[in-house]
Amino acid sequence: MTTQTQPILSVEKLNKVYPNGTHALKGVSFDVKKGEFLVVIGLSGSGKSTLLRCINRLHEPTTGSILFEGKDITNIKGSPLRTLRSRIGMIFQHFNLIPRKTVLTNVLTGTLSRTGIVSSIFGIFPEEDKKKALSLIELVGLTGKENRRADNLSGGQQQRVAIARALMQDPSILLADEPVASLDPATSHSVMQYLKKVNEELGVTILCNLHFLSLVRQYATRVIALKDGKLIYEGSPSEIDENWFQTIYGEDAVEVTID
Ligand SMILES: Nc1ncnc2c1ncn2[C@@H]1O[C@H](COP(=O)(O)OP(=O)(O)OP(=O)(O)O)[C@@H](O)[C@H]1O
Ligand SMILES: [Mg+2]
Repeated sequence: MTTQTQPILSVEKLNKVYPNGTHALKGVSFDVKKGEFLVVIGLSGSGKSTLLRCINRLHEPTTGSILFEGKDITNIKGSPLRTLRSRIGMIFQHFNLIPRKTVLTNVLTGTLSRTGIVSSIFGIFPEEDKKKALSLIELVGLTGKENRRADNLSGGQQQRVAIARALMQDPSILLADEPVASLDPATSHSVMQYLKKVNEELGVTILCNLHFLSLVRQYATRVIALKDGKLIYEGSPSEIDENWFQTIYGEDAVEVTID
């Protein structure tokens, strides 16, 4: 899809030092344009998860700033932070569903910041939310599985439930931290295809950490690479040649593909 020039997210000189002294992000600056599928790559420990967690403020940035939809969100708290979290969907490697609850209830918990925890416990949700949840379940190809327990689904199906749940609040951006790292190659592609569909058909911007470069080449519209907490590459996936590969992953690294 065509991207607009106005960034949806601007990260400026972001530093994160954990309480134990680990300097996980070092002066990271980049923009995310509306509508793009931006993938973050880098070795284990390079700071990819820390970056996503600073953006949705699961972690507090140490210095630097984050602008989201034109507003400085670096230090917001309370109700503005809750509003922000409804605009930013999050998907995790291990899906983080409620195992004993049904697919429908799991998707409906995506509205939790609006409907509250009590509705979730008693399974009381507004009719319009149910309609929306069912249409999102259809979007991720799980129609017919609404009443199955989450822990009875395959990993790929669980991740698709997590995508539907993240979409319940109409986020403008989805952050995905290694969304396919627990899945086999075929299932990985299926989940990536659904993320691509969400990006292209719903216009939701995607910011996603990935390990496999072959997936990056296939799905990313742009790539940034982190190394030891620093941003060392920003460009198109096709420009990552052998030299860049070695710069990003180290001289002894060998590319493993996922077909
Ligand atoms: N809660 C924490 N407290 C202290 N140090 C942390 C914490 N979380 C991460 N780190 C450290 O920060 C650095 C970056 O970690 P991070 O998890 O962001 O890397 P990553 O790129 O996501 O790695 P992976 O590919 O293994 O998921 C690492 O040195 C890590 O040990
Ligand atoms: Mg990580």
